[in-house]
Amino acid sequence: MTDLFDAPAPGGDARELLVLQDPSIGLRAVICIHRTVDGVAGGGIRRLAYEDEAELLADARRLAEAMSLKAAMADLPVGGAKIVVWDRQDLDVPAAHEAIGEAVDRLGGRVLVGPDIGTGPKEMGHVRQATSFANPSGNAPDRATARGVLAGIRGVLRHLDGDADATGRRVVVQGLGAVGSRVAADLVEAGAEVAGADVDADRRAAAERMGVQIVDADEALATRCDLLVPCALGGVLDEATAGRLEARAVCGSANNVLASPEAGDRLHEAGIVYAPDFVVNAGALIEGVLTVRHGATDRVRRQAGEQIDAIEGRVVDLLERAEGSGEPVHRLAKRRARERMAERADR
Ligand code: NAI
Repeated sequence: MTDLFDAPAPGGDARELLVLQDPSIGLRAVICIHRTVDGVAGGGIRRLAYEDEAELLADARRLAEAMSLKAAMADLPVGGAKIVVWDRQDLDVPAAHEAIGEAVDRLGGRVLVGPDIGTGPKEMGHVRQATSFANPSGNAPDRATARGVLAGIRGVLRHLDGDADATGRRVVVQGLGAVGSRVAADLVEAGAEVAGADVDADRRAAAERMGVQIVDADEALATRCDLLVPCALGGVLDEATAGRLEARAVCGSANNVLASPEAGDRLHEAGIVYAPDFVVNAGALIEGVLTVRHGATDRVRRQAGEQIDAIEGRVVDLLERAEGSGEPVHRLAKRRARERMAERADR
């Protein structure tokens, strides 16, 4: 059964859900708009092999809400949206992405789209054939996201020890893909002792060549370190794993890394510093929104870089406020994001 009008927590309060279907190309997708600001929302296109419609809808709702939180905390003048495509055997991927581009174009700027899992540079090329409300081809979302994660890490290190220098720090990166491998490479360069895990042998080999020490994927979360950097899938920290971590801090790109708010509470109780995912992984959204709205010029890209680097200060501020108030930082950050959304989002 499909829960079209149900509101599964969290993230069940999206305002608009648009269903896209075209049997001739196997297209089954939704555009979920959580909130708009001045009529605009931003979000990526995810293509995944969901079990059923209920799972697809829940993912769309959760991710659209996460985009609203991310945009609010990054001070971007947009709300959050997500496009989710059901990856099934009969899906004609290029045609589907072009059809999504057409649907986005019909919305006339209400939704600005970028890449996500299952939508890389090639698929974005198909989207761009049909609309200009999409990340320009010169954007480098993985790089922008990694830059934001590195800024977040500097903020965490400053909070922990008053010094952002990564030299000699022991870091574990879970997921050595597009974002994780860049973060790992930069930290190796900065003199950190970097270990990493990935389920993909080629990713492991490439990281090893960059000086990353490989640990077993099953052991990544239990490895003793200063900093755990989750850059694989969401939901990896549930109450049990959060309680077993041997890290002093957690800061990574994986969307919705906490399986539940209670998992964040366990981190708080264990004294593990946590930089909320939707604060540190906003780099690609910042780059995307600024370049779509103001043009992909050098000046705009520089401005985007500066806004991404500002994540460092934002993380320090949040961690200090959380420490001062005793409120777990994931709850504080969500509350602040919701307050900002209430101030700015369209009714
Ligand atoms: P990716 O697909 O390039 O990399 C993810 C890596 O994690 C893959 O190499 C995969 O083999 C590995 N992996 C999967 N399960 C694993 C496990 N159990 N243990 C260890 N490794 C595992 O994805 P990308 O682009 O690097 O994104 C990483 C995370 O950051 C995702 O959760 C994504 O949603 C999030 N994110 C990415 C953004 C971007 O601009 N690429 C923007 C914001 C969030």
